[in-house]
Formats: sequence, C-alpha cells, structure tokens
Amino acid sequence: MNIPTVKLASGHDMPVLGLGTWRMSGSECTRAVRQALELGYRHLDTAELYGNHREVGEGIQGFAREELFITSKVPFQLLRHDDVIATCNRNLQELGTDYLDMYLIHWPDPELPMEPTFEALSTLVAQGKVRSIGVSNFIMSRLEKALDISSVPICTNQVEFHPLLYQADLMQFCQSKDVVVTAYAPLGRQKALEHPVVIQIAAECRKTPAQVCLRWLLQKGIAVIPKSSSEARLRENLGVFGWELPEEAMSRIDAIPDQVRLVRLDIDEF
Ligand SMILES: NC(=O)c1ccc[n+]([C@@H]2O[C@H](COP(=O)([O-])OP(=O)(O)OC[C@H]3O[C@@H](n4cnc5c(N)ncnc54)[C@H](OP(=O)(O)O)[C@@H]3O)[C@@H](O)[C@H]2O)c1
Repeated sequence: MNIPTVKLASGHDMPVLGLGTWRMSGSECTRAVRQALELGYRHLDTAELYGNHREVGEGIQGFAREELFITSKVPFQLLRHDDVIATCNRNLQELGTDYLDMYLIHWPDPELPMEPTFEALSTLVAQGKVRSIGVSNFIMSRLEKALDISSVPICTNQVEFHPLLYQADLMQFCQSKDVVVTAYAPLGRQKALEHPVVIQIAAECRKTPAQVCLRWLLQKGIAVIPKSSSEARLRENLGVFGWELPEEAMSRIDAIPDQVRLVRLDIDEF
C-alpha cells in the first residue's frame, strides 16, 4: 500500500502516517521496524533520547533509502550550536545513513537563545545532512518566535495530540504558517481507545477505536506516528485510508470534554 504524503514547506514529501519507536529497543525494535516496512510503512520516528538508532538502522537494511522518511530529534540538553552539529553527525552514523529526512528540536530549552540552534540546523540542511527541519513540544508563542528566527522553513511541530488532547488553537496556528502538525501519542497511549465516544463511533463505523483516533487526526490534516511492535496492530493502524469519518462523528470527538495531557518533560522521560 502507498501511504499518502503531505508536501512540507521545504518542498519534500512526508508520509502522513509513520511508525513511532519510543520504548522500542534491541531486537524487538529491529524486528518491528522491518515488519512495518514490509507492510508498507515508510516513515520512521526516532530520537537521540530513545537510544535505538542502531536498531532502527538495522531494521532499514535492504530497503531503498530514498523511499524512506526518517525523523530524529536533538535533545534539549544539546541545543548549543556545536552540540547540534556533533549530535546530528553521530545520529547519522548510528542510523547508518547519509541524511535525515527530518531533524527536530525535541523539546525547547527556555534558558537558551534559539538563534544558534537554528543556525546549526540550517548548516545541516546546507550540507545535505538534513532535508527538512522541525520542532517538537513548541507552544504557539515559541513557534512564532522560531519562525521569525529560522532561515530555513520549520516544516513540522510534533506535539501530543489525540481525542483526549484536542489542541485546536495550536493546530490552526501551525496550519496558518504552513507548519504540519505531527501528532505524537496519537492513540493517547491507549487511553483514548477506552473513551466511550471513541468506542461508540468505532462500532457505528465498523472500525477499531485506534483507527477512529488516527482517522480523526488525518482528517484534520495532521500526520500521525502511532507506535506498535505487534504485527496485527501495525496492520490495523494502516487501515485508515480509503474511508472517512462523517462530519458529525468528527464533531462528537472534537467535543470530548475529558481532556488530559499525558506527556510532560518533568514527569515523563520525553
Ligand atoms: N516528540 C516527543 O516529545 C514525543 C513524545 C512522545 C512520543 N513521541 C513519538 O510518538 C510515538 C507515538 O507515541 P507513543 O508511543 O507515546 O503513544 P501511542 O502511539 O499513542 O500509543 C502506543 C501504545 O499503543 C499501543 N497500540 C498501538 N497500536 C494499537 C492498536 N491498534 N490498538 C491498541 N493498542 C495499540 C502500543 O502497544 P503495542 O506496541 O503493544 O502494540 C503502545 O502501548 C512514539 O513512539 C515516539 O516516536 C514523541
């Protein structure tokens, strides 16, 4: 199956569905990456902090690099100019690739000026080591500042987004600036799958709760990176194309009142 793509502000195409790899490690990670690619996934999401670059790199062996879209992230502890360059070079080596399709600032560091970080990212783009850059966990005001500072387009803002955390204002702001929203934890780490509204809509549409969550995001123009290491779920999460949620179902999910943020840097690893 060919997963649809979205055109980024950099001019490159990003598959709108990718595989998240947080908490995947060792041979389980390599196996899941390979299995996902065999099923048709082409977009992989990893990070320096996940500690699984080598395993992801093993998983992509045998697949044409040009057909893949690989995202990694530089951690907030390494946002000084030279650290960004050195971290990216190491990340490339670990992954066994010459370039990253997307390199993100994983979390902002409010203590640091952003200019040197974006200068380093633009150097990596000029060197051909990174094709597109983006940010993650940026609130609106910080993104607005970053857009002013960066000499290369900021193509995505990867943020927590699922039916239990509908960040409509942030979404509208990003879309107005041609910044694609990428939803992390798009299944709400399974919590969204248990919500009665999601379960009810899944039954009405003869889809699974996970497919309803992913479809709701895709229909809003949001890219999704669900994580799974199970073959059955990898397949299930691919079953989100070629059908639509009716508008009234979209509105019912929009109106879910029980909003909760699951990921916080101070209580979570990242
Ligand atoms: N930028 C950031 O700061 C940041 C933060 C968090 C996450 N992320 C990225 O976003 C990715 C996704 O987020 P996440 O892993 O936190 O949460 P998620 O994708 O919402 O949920 C993953 C959980 O859902 C299960 N699952 C997957 N498909 C399912 C299905 N169809 N039905 C039922 N359960 C299913 C998985 O278990 P099995 O593996 O057993 O299927 C896993 O326990 C991460 O892997 C990471 O790449 C980025």
